[in-house]
Amino acid sequence: MNLPDRSAQFSQQIESMFGAIAPRYDLLNRVLSFGQDIYWRKKAIDSLAPLKECCYLDVATGTADLALEIAKRRHCKVYGVDFCTPMLNLGMQKVKRKHREKTISLVAGCGEALPFGDDLFDGTCIAFGLRNFSSPENGLKEMMRILRPKGRMVVLEFSMPENMLLKWIYKSYFDIILPVFGRFVSRHESAYKYLPESVSQFPQREGFTQMMELAGFKQVSFQNLTFGIVTLYTGVKSG
Ligand SMILES: C[S@@+](CC[C@H](N)C(=O)[O-])C[C@H]1O[C@@H](n2cnc3c(N)ncnc32)[C@H](O)[C@@H]1O
Repeated sequence: MNLPDRSAQFSQQIESMFGAIAPRYDLLNRVLSFGQDIYWRKKAIDSLAPLKECCYLDVATGTADLALEIAKRRHCKVYGVDFCTPMLNLGMQKVKRKHREKTISLVAGCGEALPFGDDLFDGTCIAFGLRNFSSPENGLKEMMRILRPKGRMVVLEFSMPENMLLKWIYKSYFDIILPVFGRFVSRHESAYKYLPESVSQFPQREGFTQMMELAGFKQVSFQNLTFGIVTLYTGVKSG
């Protein structure tokens, strides 16, 4: 699909796209990333450094992989929020299978108007979600609002390798092989064409850290993962 303009319909299109690919979403994540997505989520939660008896929010939680990664580490409370019911339903099945119902609560809601009060969470995270928001800036402001002072935010997002040769190899995979394979397995005409298009339009590294700073985050930094095909960003709410 051509990138929809970020109007009122944008979020509806995104929600319905994820609803359609939900049954194959986890499988495609594992296969298309060659299992690297598991490593990226582990690194993100290492950076979040969850503490016992603290409370965390995974925004755009999808099928809850990041929420499950937090729950694995510590006895803390984890909320996951997403506006796509089929993704959340699959997430809930995984939470039940892993006996984490007491630790993880999945809630339907929009990341641009989070259904939580101010200063509530010790930490918050989002993986591969902000790029799909109609306003990523509003998403960041909402994450800032629900964080308690000194709380930490962690973001995982796709990026392009900086090395020119790697970039060329990766672009060939991302722009050509991934959309064809993604369409075949997900049976969705355009979701895996939208993925590289949306990544190419989203700010990366210094561009995204500037966006975080504008939303008010301090101590903002980033780290390249897997040759820079994914970037891990962290920021803190001032105390
Ligand atoms: C690429 S998936 C990522 C899911 C999960 N975080 C992961 O790492 O697998 C993007 C998710 O963001 C959700 N999403 C996109 N825009 C959203 C918004 N404005 N509010 C809530 N969820 C949103 C989609 O429904 C989808 O589940």
